Amino acid sequence: MITSMKKKVYIETMGCQMNKLDSELVACHLKACGYEICDALPEAEVVIFNTCSVRQHAEEKVISKIGQLKKEHQQRPQLVVAVIGCMAQRLGQQLLDDYRQVDIVCGPGQLHHFSSMLAEVLDRRRQMLSLNDPQETDNLEILDSKRDTEEMDRPFSAFVRVMRGCNKYCHYCVVPYVRGPEQSRPIRHIVAETRRLAENGVKEITLLGQTVNSYRFKEGGKTWGLADVLSQIHDIEGLERIRFVTSYPRDFDERILRAMADLPRVCEYLHIPAQSGSNRILKAMNRNYSVEAYLDLIEKARELVPGITIAGDFIVGYCGETDADFLATKELMRKVRYKNCFIFKYSPRPGTRAAAKMADDVPEVIKKQRNTELLALQNEIAFEDNQKLVGLPVEILVEGASKKPHLDSTEEVAEADAECTINYYEAKNSDTIQLTGRTRGDQIAVFNGSSKLIGQIVKLKIVKASALTLFGEMQ
Ligand code: SAH
Ligand code: F3S
Repeated sequence: MITSMKKKVYIETMGCQMNKLDSELVACHLKACGYEICDALPEAEVVIFNTCSVRQHAEEKVISKIGQLKKEHQQRPQLVVAVIGCMAQRLGQQLLDDYRQVDIVCGPGQLHHFSSMLAEVLDRRRQMLSLNDPQETDNLEILDSKRDTEEMDRPFSAFVRVMRGCNKYCHYCVVPYVRGPEQSRPIRHIVAETRRLAENGVKEITLLGQTVNSYRFKEGGKTWGLADVLSQIHDIEGLERIRFVTSYPRDFDERILRAMADLPRVCEYLHIPAQSGSNRILKAMNRNYSVEAYLDLIEKARELVPGITIAGDFIVGYCGETDADFLATKELMRKVRYKNCFIFKYSPRPGTRAAAKMADDVPEVIKKQRNTELLALQNEIAFEDNQKLVGLPVEILVEGASKKPHLDSTEEVAEADAECTINYYEAKNSDTIQLTGRTRGDQIAVFNGSSKLIGQIVKLKIVKASALTLFGEMQ
């Protein structure tokens, strides 16, 4: 009997953690359907781009990758090219019309249909489109519940979705349009999924939502919030760390902070973007909180959760941002003393209110300058704060072999996040190597040790620190 060769699928993921999770779920599902996931595009018969629409640059990168595949597609007409995620949702049919080499366009809410779309394309060679249906709810549960830890890149750490979509409609942001309205998953599904993952060896769970603290699930006259999720999953056997991202600085229930303080497995870490330190700009962004309220919340968090680290996002060069507004942002950064910040130059997104109604009036050179200045300030602060950790013990979850031991700009953290998604299987067979992991406060720490430690929690003593990396030695 001749056994048929499995078709090879290559997946490239852009954007946020939600996309990383989606890619993983799609990969698991495809494997279960008999495909093989490979990590080199040239050997793949199916190429999937999981895309991001948050900034124009992210979309341009994908367009250029699709462009590069035109020739490849002519030479290998059997090659299937799929665009999934936010850009697929935003551009829809247009992607199929403009790029004949694209076979599948599938929105982020339709990924449970992806495998059948792929089968259809392989069978009939026709273009297929599936976009989010606002009437449909809960449709991704099928994928969430089918994840197989054996197929995960990092079988000891997993994302669990608690919500989808966003209702906040910040004026600059495309997410509510491409990911749809907020929907909270039933708490029992979250608990069941976490339990299943923990039974399969997962030690760290990161709960995901665009505004994770807005989680509200109502049933039978009862309402559950994020604090309830934290306490319900806390005692699941095998779990060692629980995190949640990203928090929205408004409607932040104090019960969440109390849960962080009381529940030892919940890590002392908040990613809570401020976006700007100017009330005028916050208003123009439709963020619905003031700088003062933001600072009060940070103060409360520091008071209730000792040792908490705070990460943030800022947009520079938003419509109408003056030098005085920018100074106010720097001032806020100095007051909060973030562990790290993601800093973005404002990019108008079609369909958003800012793009429609407000002039993108800060020149590119100024945006660039403000970006560099803010990064420099953040690095200065992080460097100073990290020096205070030298000599102290920390506990890290070892993620894998370090590819980039010296990170010297904050912007690189985003990339490092992707790159530190170490090749677990490759690394686990070698002896002493430089390993990387994260502290409970989400700081990156590197040290020399055996690859057998990957996936374990180890104690280190910090011997040196840069703005982005702690250098440790095993205790
Ligand atoms: N709540 C989400 C936010 C998604 S967008 C989360 O989970 O992170 C991520 C970040 O991109 C935002 O916090 C914001 O700082 C930035 N961003 C969003 N829209 C942008 C735009 N039009 N231009 C520049 N940066 C943007
Ligand atoms: Fe975007 Fe604001 Fe929601 S940044 S994801 S609209 S909270």
